Amino acid sequence: MKLPHTSLEGKHLPVMIDEVIKICNPKNGGNFMDCTFGAGGYSKELLKFRATKVVAFDRDSQVIELANKLKDNFQSRFVFYNKKFSKIDLTSPNKFDAVIFDLGLSSIQLDDLSRGFSFRSKSELNMSMGQTEISAKKVVNTYSSQDLRDILKIFGEEQDATKISRNIVKERIKNDIKTTDELVRIIKRSKKKDYKKINESTKTFQAIRIFVNKEVNELIEGVIKATKILKPGGKLIVISFHSIEDKIIKFYFKNFSKNRSRSNKYLPENVDYLSLFDDYKNKVIKASSKEVKRNPRSRSAKLRVAIRSSDKFIDPEELRKKFKYLTDLEKRIA
Ligand SMILES: C[S@@+](CC[C@H](N)C(=O)[O-])C[C@H]1O[C@@H](n2cnc3c(N)ncnc32)[C@H](O)[C@@H]1O
Repeated sequence: MKLPHTSLEGKHLPVMIDEVIKICNPKNGGNFMDCTFGAGGYSKELLKFRATKVVAFDRDSQVIELANKLKDNFQSRFVFYNKKFSKIDLTSPNKFDAVIFDLGLSSIQLDDLSRGFSFRSKSELNMSMGQTEISAKKVVNTYSSQDLRDILKIFGEEQDATKISRNIVKERIKNDIKTTDELVRIIKRSKKKDYKKINESTKTFQAIRIFVNKEVNELIEGVIKATKILKPGGKLIVISFHSIEDKIIKFYFKNFSKNRSRSNKYLPENVDYLSLFDDYKNKVIKASSKEVKRNPRSRSAKLRVAIRSSDKFIDPEELRKKFKYLTDLEKRIA
């Protein structure tokens, strides 16, 4: 089948697409949910199999155009919601064979310099993926030095968080910090070390982006709701790109599987309701060296899969408790 073309086409290479499709196993059809539509890489590939149905989500209104083209081609087999994935349970009565999360930014977002995600841009500090209540500019210009420090340290694991935060506050007393290049200059001045491996702004930009988009709350609520809408035997597939995301997914899959450890202080002992997933092998799938060469963005990707054990669902409150320190930080107001 001839697939649609829009101006966004080809701007994002889907990560580990062969692995994702193999896990989904769509040869005989099935219901699939793509929680992070982006440039539609996974949705399109799944729809190539005749008897499949795909429900897709993305919070970014920029991708509606691409989703509409797919809708024209596949009609009742494809539905798109321009909503956050923390709302996936509100939309469909169906149960799914697989639910996929490919987290973080797409190249469409990163390469659009006007959106302020890239430290190579000179645009207004924004960093919204869509449907946010605050911009990066507001965070940088109104949050206290202590709050900024916590955001950079915890969400960015930035060693020089204190120095960067103090310098941000010093600088904004003179003038508002309006653009990404102004922030980059402050970060460069604040860093102790000469960073060789990654750009010195990477961690600060990651931290502010997570805070602006409330990514931890989204991820936790998203995967809990995904668990609820999976069929028994259905697969929860998550591709993460930084350690906070992977820590959350690893904790969830390990501790809510039939073979979970009995000695976790966050969890009651020997209770059957915690077995949301079959035995979990703690296996991480990484992109092949060939893919990393072709698509450097895939280098940090970690794919984990858990298999839904039954229809029984009791809310995994302990997952929220364990990461409350992160979701509380996301809720801080200036
Ligand atoms: C890495 S891209 C996905 C790329 C896609 N798999 C493809 O192959 O084209 C991530 C997408 O997820 C979206 N996204 C991130 N967090 C989201 C959330 N909480 N709710 C809905 N969409 C989200 C972003 O806007 C972005 O378009």
